[in-house]
Amino acid sequence: MTDLLLLPGDGIGPEVIAEVKKVAAKLCPDLTLDEKPFGGCSFDAHGTPLTDDALAAAKAAKAVLMGAVGGPQWAGAPRDKRPEAGLLALRAGMGVFANLRPALCFQPLADASTLKREVVEGLDIMIVRELTGGIYFGSPRFIEEIPGGKRAVDTQVYTTGEIERVSRIAFELARGRRNKVTSCEKSNVMDSGLLWREVVTELHKRDYADVQLEHMLADNAAMQLVKNPRQFDVILTDNLFGDILSDEASQLTGGLGLLPSAALGVAGTPGLYEPIHGSAPDIAGKGVANPLAAILSFEMALRWSLGRAELADRLFAAVVAALDGGARTPDIGGRLTTAQMGDAVVAQL
Ligand code: NAI
Ligand code: MG
Repeated sequence: MTDLLLLPGDGIGPEVIAEVKKVAAKLCPDLTLDEKPFGGCSFDAHGTPLTDDALAAAKAAKAVLMGAVGGPQWAGAPRDKRPEAGLLALRAGMGVFANLRPALCFQPLADASTLKREVVEGLDIMIVRELTGGIYFGSPRFIEEIPGGKRAVDTQVYTTGEIERVSRIAFELARGRRNKVTSCEKSNVMDSGLLWREVVTELHKRDYADVQLEHMLADNAAMQLVKNPRQFDVILTDNLFGDILSDEASQLTGGLGLLPSAALGVAGTPGLYEPIHGSAPDIAGKGVANPLAAILSFEMALRWSLGRAELADRLFAAVVAALDGGARTPDIGGRLTTAQMGDAVVAQL
């Protein structure tokens, strides 16, 4: 069985995944790796962004690490053949319903935040976003002509089961952190928000009474993230609010090139790990992309899917040490190339 399936993808994807391979060779040479084309490069080679072969390999691995997909050269492809469609198909095919997005402020980079250093220093938030339900998937969904204009309809749908399984992941994560979950919805104006609050409250009472639970309306959470972000440990929220709150939180830390993510399904199935950035066509091929988001995505895979938490700790410490030592790619104010940044991490292992 393959431990880790690599899907380097397009643009800077292969450049940052190459650094992960270097790190893995040093940290855990026994880890079995496999690699498949995915995204635009797969469309060019096989006529589809996600081949049956790649999806089967993803489902059979213990974890999947993606680089990034997409680019202007595929903008004209049919909608269902675009790289982004491949990503949606991969997430659906793997059944990953919980998106974990850490917002971490590395000490030496606190000045890169959109906020003041004293507000973000030491920031460590984990956002758990429901990924496969809610208003992005609910039906009916359509645009129709009506007298005098048009009418558009989207539908937010959540079941008890969908809310409970993602909430469970948030509570479990909190236990290994600062033991606090802030659940965000709009129960004041939405029935789905009411059900969300009810299910989270029940589950907490039944299985996680040891964890501190707080409910917060999502608009207030957006404000609190800017005002006093360090009050948060784990933020649990739905697909729509999670999309917005996680993008907001990423800016508190000051670096797209630094932020990893994970998407998890039911226990025992592989997780999907990827940097939050895209394929960065503007810098692709120049060898200057920051590989830390990909390396930290690998760190999450070690921790959450590969059962190697102690190696994850070592890798995390190596990244912090490299940053402390002044290692910087251009996006965070330095001159190192992608490969030199990877070397700086390897040197700390
Ligand atoms: P992007 O994240 O690729 O780039 C935004 C800006 O951040 C660019 O200036 C880029 O140079 C910079 N940047 C991103 N990652 C970086 C890194 N590791 N190191 C240094 N600088 C970095 O977002 P954009 O430009 O909106 O999208 C480009 C393409 O990527 C599009 O085709 C889009 O659809 C795709 N995309 C794919 C994602 C994925 O594979 N999950 C996610 C987001 C976008
Ligand atoms: Mg978004």
